[in-house]
Amino acid sequence: MSAKRAVAVLLSGRGSNMVALAEAAARPDYPARIVTVLSDKADAPGLSRARALGLPAGVVARAQHPSKPAFEAALDAELRAAGAEFICLAGFMRLLSAAFLAGWHDRVLNIHPSLLPAFKGLSAQAQALAAGVRIAGCTVHIVRPEMDAGPIIAQAAVPVLADDSLDRLEARILAAEHRLYPRALALFCQGRVRLTDGRARVDAPTPAPTALYNPPAD
Ligand code: GRF
Repeated sequence: MSAKRAVAVLLSGRGSNMVALAEAAARPDYPARIVTVLSDKADAPGLSRARALGLPAGVVARAQHPSKPAFEAALDAELRAAGAEFICLAGFMRLLSAAFLAGWHDRVLNIHPSLLPAFKGLSAQAQALAAGVRIAGCTVHIVRPEMDAGPIIAQAAVPVLADDSLDRLEARILAAEHRLYPRALALFCQGRVRLTDGRARVDAPTPAPTALYNPPAD
């Protein structure tokens, strides 16, 4: 198979999606390898998880730079020094500017714990519970400067159960995230995601045309 694409992961926290991507990337037949893991937070647990997996990991802290452009220039320099071709945001808690994204045109992915465009922003799972939706989920999309916006590559849906706590719903969505993100990144790295008219067209098998019902259908 052709060479693996070089992917950087940006995170600010726990890093469980980074681990899911790294575990997928460790497979010989996976079309990406993780070339660096960078965090804007020096104490992000995801950094030690990355190092434990043998991945290069570093910190580019906002506080060490006088302005957002200077911070983003430092981040950009680290990413290019690592040889990254694509960037996966995985719990990275900063909005990237239009200027930064222009340098990585259509090459930055994000995962968000809702069925976008519903429930953008922080605490998406709590927003879903508060809204009383019966079906929630997660989305992998190409990043645009606006928060949680951009062409959608893949989504997974999960039911919201009647007695769900926030913890239980978050865990159900997170388990789906850990399957969805590696799948979406693989399609992206294989050149099977094409953008037309602001939408992603994905060359992937057609799913069974059945609905997820909640409550279950008779
Ligand atoms: C995930 O829920 C992801 O969808 C959101 O931030 C969370 C990061 O979790 N963008 P982790 O750091 O990958 O465990």
